[in-house]
Amino acid sequence: MNKDLLTLRDLSQKEISRIISRAIDLKGGVDGSACPLIGRSIGLLFEKPSTRTRVSFEVGIYQLGGQAVWMSPQELQLGRGETIADTAMTLSRYLGGIVIRTSSHERVTEFARAASIPVVNGLSDLHHPCQALADIMTMQERKGRTRGLKVAFIGDGNNVCNSLIEAAACMEFHLTIACPEGFEPDADILAAAHAGSQSEIVVLRDPKEAAGMADVIYTDVWVSMGQEGQADSKKNKFRGYQINKELLACAKKDATVLHCLPAHRGEEITDDVIDSPQSAVFDQAENRLHAQKALLEMIIR
Ligand code: CP
Ligand code: NVA
Repeated sequence: MNKDLLTLRDLSQKEISRIISRAIDLKGGVDGSACPLIGRSIGLLFEKPSTRTRVSFEVGIYQLGGQAVWMSPQELQLGRGETIADTAMTLSRYLGGIVIRTSSHERVTEFARAASIPVVNGLSDLHHPCQALADIMTMQERKGRTRGLKVAFIGDGNNVCNSLIEAAACMEFHLTIACPEGFEPDADILAAAHAGSQSEIVVLRDPKEAAGMADVIYTDVWVSMGQEGQADSKKNKFRGYQINKELLACAKKDATVLHCLPAHRGEEITDDVIDSPQSAVFDQAENRLHAQKALLEMIIR
């Protein structure tokens, strides 16, 4: 059976721990010459822009000995009305696996249902599981553990936040989310996380309350890709949710700052915070490469 990564829940705690430990080894140069993807081609079908996800997958696939085949819908018959399912069935005859970035999560699941190769979600409106793997790895690096950590997510209850909720439930860290009313994370994802874990996962309004004594403080853009039409009204509602020196002072003295990037400096995070020694955001970006290589080693057969 195929091993897909459509949401972080497709991986068990044991599998995530294995990926993170392997990623840390790969980053440290252990067994860096292993090329499990020799002779294999991995597709990258991206319907939205990307810097980190695209380049880290392309480079990672090359480092594992494989070939990355990048595709945008405009260049495929998909852009002229060929169905997702027919595209998935066709590409499955050529590729060893595929990474998809698209708008609706339903498109990712539809593709995976029709595909006979492993499908990795490279971001949908609901989930960003590859980001969550790098987030877990970065917390492990900076704090030496994930279990029992107090993590605060300040901002929009979006795809990155939803996958962080699944990470909290699986890796047993506590997560407090502060967001304005109407911008809560997905209710079903939250309910499933509450049902399946001992971690405290709380949604509240006050950013200072969420940041209080946190080990890790995390944010993402207020206006995600595809939401440009709501930019002005969202920015107004999120004004009090910026990670700045004052908010960071509520967290533990040695709190780590995370951001999945791209950042809108001066909006959800200030320069002095993102560029401070407490910020791990570029390690977090680098860790996308290592974590995804470890993931591909596990799922591509
Ligand atoms: N964090 C992240 O997924 O970045 P990109 O949009 O640049 O891929
Ligand atoms: N929430 C952001 C994440 C970008 C990596 C978006 O969907 O645009």
